[in-house]
Amino acid sequence: MEKLFELSHQNPALFVDILESIKDAIFISDHEGTTLWLNSASEAMCGVPKNKITGRNVRDLEKEGLFKPSVLRMALEEGKNVSTVQTVGEGRKYIATGHLVKNKEGKVIAAVAHLRDITDAVKNTSKLQEIEELLEKYSAQIRKLTSTKTNINGVENVKLGGKSNSRILAKKIIEKIAAVDTTALIVGETGTGKSLAAEKIHLLSKRRNGPFVQINCASLPESLLESELFGYEKGSFTGATSKGKTGLIKAAEAGTLFLDEIGEVPLHLQTKILHFLQSKTYMPIGAREPRNADVRIIAATNRDLEQMVEEGTFRSDLFYRLNILTVKIPSLRESRDDIEDLATYFLNMFNEKYNKNKRFSNEVLKKLIQYSWPGNIRELENLIERLVILSEDEFIEEKDLPQKMVEQHMSSNSPYISDRGTMTEILEEMEKKMIIDALEKENSTRKAAKFLGVSQSLLMRRIKKYNIQLVVEESKTFVK
Ligand SMILES: Nc1ncnc2c1ncn2[C@@H]1O[C@H](COP(=O)(O)OP(=O)(O)OP(=O)(O)O)[C@@H](O)[C@H]1O
Ligand SMILES: [Mg+2]
Repeated sequence: MEKLFELSHQNPALFVDILESIKDAIFISDHEGTTLWLNSASEAMCGVPKNKITGRNVRDLEKEGLFKPSVLRMALEEGKNVSTVQTVGEGRKYIATGHLVKNKEGKVIAAVAHLRDITDAVKNTSKLQEIEELLEKYSAQIRKLTSTKTNINGVENVKLGGKSNSRILAKKIIEKIAAVDTTALIVGETGTGKSLAAEKIHLLSKRRNGPFVQINCASLPESLLESELFGYEKGSFTGATSKGKTGLIKAAEAGTLFLDEIGEVPLHLQTKILHFLQSKTYMPIGAREPRNADVRIIAATNRDLEQMVEEGTFRSDLFYRLNILTVKIPSLRESRDDIEDLATYFLNMFNEKYNKNKRFSNEVLKKLIQYSWPGNIRELENLIERLVILSEDEFIEEKDLPQKMVEQHMSSNSPYISDRGTMTEILEEMEKKMIIDALEKENSTRKAAKFLGVSQSLLMRRIKKYNIQLVVEESKTFVK
């Protein structure tokens, strides 16, 4: 301190130099609000030369709109230090503090305003608010798309067709799972009927009058998935403005929460889900107290969770917790006896829906039974709907089937000896066919690549090589 006074003795303008050297605006008035001095930062901020401001009262400057409001006027009127957001000149925003300077007797002798530019910070906050509003909108959309409450239907409307031994066994297990009230896991390839099975379990269970809420865990990025599941408290993100949101766990109270594609949940969230399964309590984001929930979890996956545990991408403790009651829904390849039954089931269904009376020719039935059905029941259902709509005659004939199903038999009969070309040609033809099949099944190049076990970039190169024409509609990719 003494050294400072010594320096100021040597240089009487020292304190002015110090005030000039800082980037924040400093504005000094006497006890009545008459401007005594302002630093250059302050001058630049006001956009008016210093000499036009000094000597003038802050109240007049405020009236002229140089700044709104005048923090010095406020401090002097209120007799205490005051902070506010001040708009200066062209609308830049400043956080302004008015300090009162008092003498030994406590009498106000001057007032100092200190202003810091917060325009960018304010912009960022309002951007955050915009983003949050957008997120809110997306989240509502996502909820519409990924989660449905389906206990309007009643159990009789959820029919599980198929008479093969493996499917009958699966149906028996589903009934047993429905009779108890613990976490259950449904595994099976894509399109085998896992979602339908989850709904059936709910509708057969004692929770049937409660909500059935489902969410596809693969459809959301981690942070959104977390807030969808657990919800968040008011003010968790950008301060007081965020409204807070009920999570799906709460929405499923007294009912069932179906976590589809559980294999896609990131590790960090797996921990939280495990915690919920163990304690039946959860913490909404930003909450201080845990919440209780009476919700049954049913999870489903087409991934090999055991292998994921080995690879370290799925928590073993969560796997064991989920794997207590497990039902495996067979693929159509594993339950070929189901094909005719299900095909007839869908044929009747779509005949009724489209007011038609189509029937399968024997040849067509044979082909359906021989086909490999990578997309399982969904693929069968979609194909039959298409056949009912598009076939011309009463009998659905072989010519109505997609090329891949007609060719399949030929190539599977003699995969090595063929008069259809050289080995490279045949392999390329098979590769092209597999790619088209995968794309038709998955309607996404990313998913098709995953299904085929190749990288997306390799798949894209092959799509180009084979000149496979794609069209994208409603964010789904179709083969032209
Ligand atoms: N046993 C069945 N009887 C009649 N229809 C079925 C049966 N199983 C599935 N389906 C129908 O097949 C289609 C696909 O079923 P679902 O969506 O349940 O499969 P998934 O295994 O959940 O598929 P993904 O892995 O893609 O989520 C649905 O339209 C469903 O109604
Ligand atoms: Mg599903």
